[in-house]
Amino acid sequence: SKMADAKEERTFIMVKPDGVQRGIVGEIIKRFENRGYKLVACKMCRPSKEHLEKHYADLSKKPFFPGLIQYMSSGPVVAMAWEGKEVVKMGRAMLGATNPLDSNPGTIRGDFCIDVGRNICHGSDAVESAKKEIGLWFSAEELQSYKSCEFEWVY
Ligand code: PPS
Repeated sequence: SKMADAKEERTFIMVKPDGVQRGIVGEIIKRFENRGYKLVACKMCRPSKEHLEKHYADLSKKPFFPGLIQYMSSGPVVAMAWEGKEVVKMGRAMLGATNPLDSNPGTIRGDFCIDVGRNICHGSDAVESAKKEIGLWFSAEELQSYKSCEFEWVY
């Protein structure tokens, strides 16, 4: 059904190296859990430049691209897949605007950072890119499918 499909929407959320260094991993996970989303994959890794160039392939012509790859490969990140109703759009709303100076207080970026080049987290911008990104960062075995609540009507 349409409702079941919406509940199974997934997004890719990543805590960037500065988020890890600053100890904001738990805070970010907590916000998604508190909102009602389900964690279906999670790992810490140190991505290679080649891997990041794939992840950010659409931005390869941007002037900030080399700096972005440098920053993102500077330390471990936490890659996650989250599941739930409208999670792609809502994940972006919870992260806040890309440039922290435009992000509202109450959002993750709006509460924790001020520099677009050090904006502590990434979230997929569309359902299609979420699928691509989850496929790039996780193998099928790393993605879990489980019931988090006994009752269908609790969200
Ligand atoms: S654009 O130009 O509209 O495509 O860019 P945008 O969608 O705003 O951002 C895409 C990702 O690039 C990062 N970004 C930057 N990194 C470093 N320095 C500068 N100046 C910069 N501008 C944008 C931005 O954080 C986005 O990364 P993700 O990981 O997707 O949030």
